Amino acid sequence: MTQSLLKVSDLKKAYGAIQAVGGVSFEVMPGEIFGVIGPNGSGKTTMFNSVLGQISPDAGSIELNGKNITGLSPLALSRQGVGRTFQTLQVFGKMTVRDNLIVAAQEHKGSMLSRMFAPGDSGLGGKADALIDQFRIRHVADKLAGTLSYGQQKLVDIAMAFMAEPDLVLLDEPCAGVNPSLVGGISSLLKELNQNPKFGRKSSFVVIEHNMDFVMDLCHRIMVMVEGRVLAIGTPAEIRGNKEVLDAYLGN
Ligand SMILES: Nc1ncnc2c1ncn2[C@@H]1O[C@H](COP(=O)(O)OP(=O)(O)OP(=O)(O)O)[C@@H](O)[C@H]1O
Ligand SMILES: [Mg+2]
Repeated sequence: MTQSLLKVSDLKKAYGAIQAVGGVSFEVMPGEIFGVIGPNGSGKTTMFNSVLGQISPDAGSIELNGKNITGLSPLALSRQGVGRTFQTLQVFGKMTVRDNLIVAAQEHKGSMLSRMFAPGDSGLGGKADALIDQFRIRHVADKLAGTLSYGQQKLVDIAMAFMAEPDLVLLDEPCAGVNPSLVGGISSLLKELNQNPKFGRKSSFVVIEHNMDFVMDLCHRIMVMVEGRVLAIGTPAEIRGNKEVLDAYLGN
């Protein structure tokens, strides 16, 4: 049997009386695009934050390629090839797009002071330029990120995660707030990065998203979370046809 890339087992996290994540288990296979859907407050972001070392889970284990990575810091995980994007934008509005990418890679390398100084190139300019072309943002590369549309800033935000050449990227709502005309572009970009990147290796993804057309078109398998638990895991067709899922989520 193929070794899973990411294996999450019985993950739990409570905030006081709220069981935000109440025993979640799933596996992501190498090369897979794995979607996570569920109503607001169903624990999707808390699950991400626990997997990525942003918060420590109360229970459960996380394995990457069969190795236990539970409790590793975000920086340690980044060095093991695991990247992320956040539900809210993390770009620096007063830096150019290109400098945002360079600073993101410097952070990956552990330069804690990188945000306080002009980025310089650090030999990372070539990598930034390759990603700028891959993400089709050459025309805005020298603009201050804060002057771009929200959707374009989202693209920069995603590109920043790829400066570390990750094997696995967890994306928290890449389409939220993005103009619908840009959503198709984000989808085809992620497919390209998954199957045929112009730069770096092929990446696997775990993608949280409320945009159902996007999820159904992009993901190989989808996990439905409701009230901190896994309601179903299956192919888009299986999830669309699942009566429990329709009742609890898709039908409303
Ligand atoms: N830092 C926190 N302190 C207290 N409660 C929290 C905290 N973070 C999340 N919660 C609660 O945990 C539950 C799950 O929240 P979470 O953000 O993981 O949901 P989500 O599925 O990502 O929702 P959305 O789709 O709105 O982003 C919610 O009830 C939320 O209010
Ligand atoms: Mg969330």
